[in-house]
Amino acid sequence: MNSDSHNASRGPARIIGTDTASLDEAARVILAGGLVAVPTETVYGLAADATNGAAVAAIYTAKGRPAFNPLICHVASLDMAEQYAEFSPLARRLAEDFWPGPLTLVLPRKASCPVSQLATAGLPSIALRVPQHIATLELISRVRRPIAAPSANPSEQLSPTTAAHVMSGLGARIDLIIDGGASHAGVESTIIAPGESGAVLLRPGAIARSEIELFTGPLRAPDAADGVVAPGMLKRHYAPRARLRMDASRRESDEAFLAFGAPPHGVEPTMNLSPSSDLAEAASNLFAMLRALDESHRAIAVQSIPDVDLGEAINDRLRRGTLLSRESGV
Ligand code: TXA
Ligand code: MG
Repeated sequence: MNSDSHNASRGPARIIGTDTASLDEAARVILAGGLVAVPTETVYGLAADATNGAAVAAIYTAKGRPAFNPLICHVASLDMAEQYAEFSPLARRLAEDFWPGPLTLVLPRKASCPVSQLATAGLPSIALRVPQHIATLELISRVRRPIAAPSANPSEQLSPTTAAHVMSGLGARIDLIIDGGASHAGVESTIIAPGESGAVLLRPGAIARSEIELFTGPLRAPDAADGVVAPGMLKRHYAPRARLRMDASRRESDEAFLAFGAPPHGVEPTMNLSPSSDLAEAASNLFAMLRALDESHRAIAVQSIPDVDLGEAINDRLRRGTLLSRESGV
């Protein structure tokens, strides 16, 4: 199951305009779990309903070489953003000054936040921004949910700044492209984590450091405690405290068993990532199920998952979890 099969009945993406009927249609497609490329002032984004795990999984599939980096959630206003994250006074000042615009804030995620754990890669934080493009703001207002949107290009290709770029890279794999003209910034948003021990620059981008430092004072580079090594690269991912064992075909007495597909003979799974062996379903359940089992058990055994498509990213995250879990001493 991937986004090719998702839009198989529709053929290649259709390019639509920014009129009311087009935006209504785009909202329906997003709410149905589809993928819509949207214009922003930085680059075109590949948008899906951030609260729908399967739709978020389809973003990773469509881009290829999935890595489950956490995605930016786009909202229509500061009011809307405050439903999903905790804003410190500094965070609120930054939002008031730079939104709508190319500033992304990484903030503590609220417990009530309905965004899929896959979109935030299981982290306790969430990246939010209000893009400066009227069509995309109107789309979010129609959907009334945050939309997750990385740049709308196949992995490792250039970020698109026109609808035609999106069409040539991803046209066969997505549902709709909203043509809102050329993106003028051409580079992605600047990402800031305004923490208690100073604000951290997580990714340089369309707003210059000096403009932000007027509010924050000197921006720090991320260090190990921030879990980020380089722009777009998270060193520390969600890691369970429980000991994690992969490719398990039986269950030890202290273990939860996290199945994928039909469980091994005689093993009663504690949870199943996807009873029908659907990798997109498994991806969308991965972080939420690991968290739940981490609460209830000291050890988690995970059944073998094929190392193809989204399975590659699932196994990569599990492997990191194996290395980072508390019982292995890190
Ligand atoms: O300009 C942009 O920001 C474009 C347009 C489409 O809006 N969007 C974009 O989104 O670049 P995306 O999802 O590709 O950005 C993801 C990056 C991650 O690679 C990571 O650097 C950072 O955002 N990020 C997201 N969530 C994070 C978190 N919880 N903690 C730290 N960094 C995070
Ligand atoms: Mg990109």
